[in-house]
Amino acid sequence: MAFYVTTPIYYVNGEPHLGHAYSTIAADILARHHRQRGEDVFFLTGTDEFGEPVAQQAEREGVTPRELGDRLAPRFKEMAKKVNASNDFFIRTTDEGHQKRVQEVVQRVHDNGHVYEGTYEGWYCPRCADFKTESEIEDGNRCPIHRIELTREKQDNWFFRLSAFQEPLERLYAERPEFVQPDFRRNEALAFIRQGLHDVSLSRPTLKWGVPVPWDPDQVIYVWFDALLNYYTALSYAREGKDLTEAFWPATHILAKDILKFHAIYWPAFLMAAGIEVPKRVFIHGYLLMEGHKMSKSLGNVLDPDDVIAKFGADALRYYCFREVSFGQDGQISPQGFEARYESELANEYGNLANRTLSMIGRYRDGVVPEADAEPELAGGFDGAAEGFTALLDEAELTQALEHVWKLVRRLNQYVEETAPWKLAKDDGAAGRLDSVLYGLAEGLRVVTMMLHAYMPDATARLLDALDEESRGLDGFGSRGGGQRVGELAPLFPKLS
Ligand code: MSP
Repeated sequence: MAFYVTTPIYYVNGEPHLGHAYSTIAADILARHHRQRGEDVFFLTGTDEFGEPVAQQAEREGVTPRELGDRLAPRFKEMAKKVNASNDFFIRTTDEGHQKRVQEVVQRVHDNGHVYEGTYEGWYCPRCADFKTESEIEDGNRCPIHRIELTREKQDNWFFRLSAFQEPLERLYAERPEFVQPDFRRNEALAFIRQGLHDVSLSRPTLKWGVPVPWDPDQVIYVWFDALLNYYTALSYAREGKDLTEAFWPATHILAKDILKFHAIYWPAFLMAAGIEVPKRVFIHGYLLMEGHKMSKSLGNVLDPDDVIAKFGADALRYYCFREVSFGQDGQISPQGFEARYESELANEYGNLANRTLSMIGRYRDGVVPEADAEPELAGGFDGAAEGFTALLDEAELTQALEHVWKLVRRLNQYVEETAPWKLAKDDGAAGRLDSVLYGLAEGLRVVTMMLHAYMPDATARLLDALDEESRGLDGFGSRGGGQRVGELAPLFPKLS
């Protein structure tokens, strides 16, 4: 089984922020989870370096777009590393391998008869690099996303015959209702398609910063087509001397609602035009909001992931983002919110469960997990737990899957209270029961920790080591038997002073 997951490639027109990190972490959780399932995984992220959004910022800063990209792409690379993303490649659209492959695919779309020369006049947002349809324009002739005034642009250029794909797209949506998720986003995309699709520019005649149109090198390819193609091109050159396309295509895409239209409409249509298989799934998430607004460079309300990580660690940040905000919806985040969940859930519920369990096995059983059967009242709650978790992640239900595990964390804590092992330890007649209780706790802790591994790779690895568990495979409750020697464990989530 192969699993190929991608993030959007981020514009190198500003510093990375938590909003970008959010998409990267989401994709990473899926990548890690699928690796735990023993699948062949390829996880791609990177930077989008051509087009107006970058060229205009470079102009403002008085540098060349290439200089801007060379300064900022490493910042995005570092961000991925800091949030512990396990990406297999980092694409930059300025890579030669990308540009070459983009030209090949665009040429193919041309040769297949889906490109023509024409003139277009409309309202344009240079930050989106997008012409807006009448229904998308906000009062005062503004971009609904960036709130800046749109400019009137007239262009002679090459067009992609998007209108010809209205029917094939409707068919795709009908045949594969799971193609775009969640459903309300799918319906949004479908409504846009049913309104009637207009052809879109495939090239820009005035801009120099882009991939040259192969049959008309005075023009560059419109940045969105070059950018979307990253998902496809990367596989062809990420590993020297090896083309991974066959092994990994089609992809599962993660992105936010701001770029839904490009991914749910332009992208599958363009792939069809090129004769390439359309993506497997397109998962759309909402925005992380700070005080009610989307975090963005232009709004200036950015929360620096570096600060959060320095104070709480990457694991806690990863956990918080998917616990606090229901994946798919917009949601508020705040430093106070971080602290509250860190204390009550990570330090108190999960961290304490881990330390308590290990120390009781240390104290009452000389550090060896007893060989026993778990009590049915505990074991029953774990029946099908890993399967349920996996099914939720197959639908990119990252928050529900986390809730599913957290119920088990709470159940284990409740079980400790109910069985009071410290009382059983004082009663010689209860030795057998204590064995079962401690075995059940060790197994329960192991199983929840395996599931949480994709969300919090570092803390869980430390705990699995302390439980003498080398595997990361998602096997079930009670499957290990006892006999393992448990180790020392420093607090997983130390209390904030
Ligand atoms: N370069 C294009 C994408 C091309 S993909 C072929 C682009 N870049 S961007 O730098 O603006 O990044 C947009 C993406 O960053 C969003 O779709 C989302 O994945 C992520 N986010 C940016 N801010 C965000 C929030 N405040 N909250 C959640 N995600 C956010 O668009």
